[in-house]
Amino acid sequence: MKLLVIGSGGREHALVWKLAQSPHVTQMWCAPGNAGIAQERLAQNGRAIECVGIGAEDLPALLAFAQEKQVDFTVVGPDNPLALGVVDLFQQHGLKIWGANRKAAQFESSKVFSQNFMAKYGIPTAAAGTFDAAAAAKQFCATLGGKCVVKADGLALGKGVLICQNQGEAEKAVDEIMVNRAFGAAGSRVVIQEFLEGMETSLHALCDGTTAKLFPTSQDHKRALDGDRGLNTGGMGAYSPTPFLSDAQLSEVAQQILDPFLRGCAAEGIDFRGLLYPGIMLTKDGPKVLEFNARFGDPETQVYLTRLENDLLELLDASASGTLARHELKWKPEASVCVIMASGGYPGSYAKGKVISGLDAANRLPRTKVFHAGTALKDGQIVTNGGRVLGVTALGKDLHAAQAAAYAAVECLQFEGAHFRRDIAAKAV
Ligand code: AMP
Ligand code: GLY
Repeated sequence: MKLLVIGSGGREHALVWKLAQSPHVTQMWCAPGNAGIAQERLAQNGRAIECVGIGAEDLPALLAFAQEKQVDFTVVGPDNPLALGVVDLFQQHGLKIWGANRKAAQFESSKVFSQNFMAKYGIPTAAAGTFDAAAAAKQFCATLGGKCVVKADGLALGKGVLICQNQGEAEKAVDEIMVNRAFGAAGSRVVIQEFLEGMETSLHALCDGTTAKLFPTSQDHKRALDGDRGLNTGGMGAYSPTPFLSDAQLSEVAQQILDPFLRGCAAEGIDFRGLLYPGIMLTKDGPKVLEFNARFGDPETQVYLTRLENDLLELLDASASGTLARHELKWKPEASVCVIMASGGYPGSYAKGKVISGLDAANRLPRTKVFHAGTALKDGQIVTNGGRVLGVTALGKDLHAAQAAAYAAVECLQFEGAHFRRDIAAKAV
């Protein structure tokens, strides 16, 4: 089979790396990819993965490329092309593609849509209201004593969520999003949720429209600095499994969320084929959904795919074809830890083009894989090209061993201004 993978981050490197192990794959392209993806080779025939200079949101060019190369199956990594309807477009042209269609992607592209859906189908979530006028939004914040979370409705690169401690902060947040339009049109409506306390966790479930197959537990680290301080980022590291939920608790949580989710999708005519990734807060009153994403998490994918035993292509094909019930997900018993190395200044502004050294030494370490995110090849050298640069991932017999192995690999790697958290998985070990 000839495959096209859309995207260019650490998640996409992990997807490409895992898909390249499938004996079914004879040729693979990635649009636009990165320097690490371009170094991968297919297990079947040793052929290199080719990165093509087409942006993940350039839908007409992606379609034309897939048609020209007679791609058999396309895999979509990021949220934006899904929200733009890349899946619908490819299907209209008779091309097979994996990912949420536009209607299903609304769970991520509209927080108002998700919040209303959760209320309608009894999915446990925070007390919340949805608003299209600032005055009513502020009044609702006041009913929560100002301790609330104000969220722009649309996609805002993970930045459209403002956590408020009091009414003054809440009013400022509403003005920022709805009046000043800090996140553009994404802020024409808002969701306001009560502030929930507890341990946060990520769930991932692969869906085929009727069946949902749950992944093991994992946890991301969203803040930039050790001890969960600093600004929110795309994610500074992840590990799997987490000790905060037993297998029995995990399936109970999943039932409380996935059963009503699938019922609601059937009732609303939403054919959810793709990856459902709810962000969850484990509160003292039980699990509550903070948001839904309609794609793999980044960096959760890096830890999940290093643990997954199945042929990923077979699973994604089954997800797109509606035949997931025939598959059983199998996971290595080992733990996986991913430490993100970011550019100095991230998530604020940062420099690009810094030479990265130590990649070969790090990749030679046992059970270690350095996934690239923001990297590029320049004059024969691999250089930084984004905020999150590398996802240094290692397996170990337990979390402690995986953590030690991941940090041993981080020690091999250098670039000017490199910044990483030293406490990934520390809550769990
Ligand atoms: P979201 O994009 O909606 O998941 O929000 C981004 C981050 O904000 C989450 O990962 C949480 O850490 C935090 N957050 C979102 N909603 C809430 C809430 N209702 N209570 C507490 N923290 C929240
Ligand atoms: N791990 C955060 C995200 O993928 O949104």
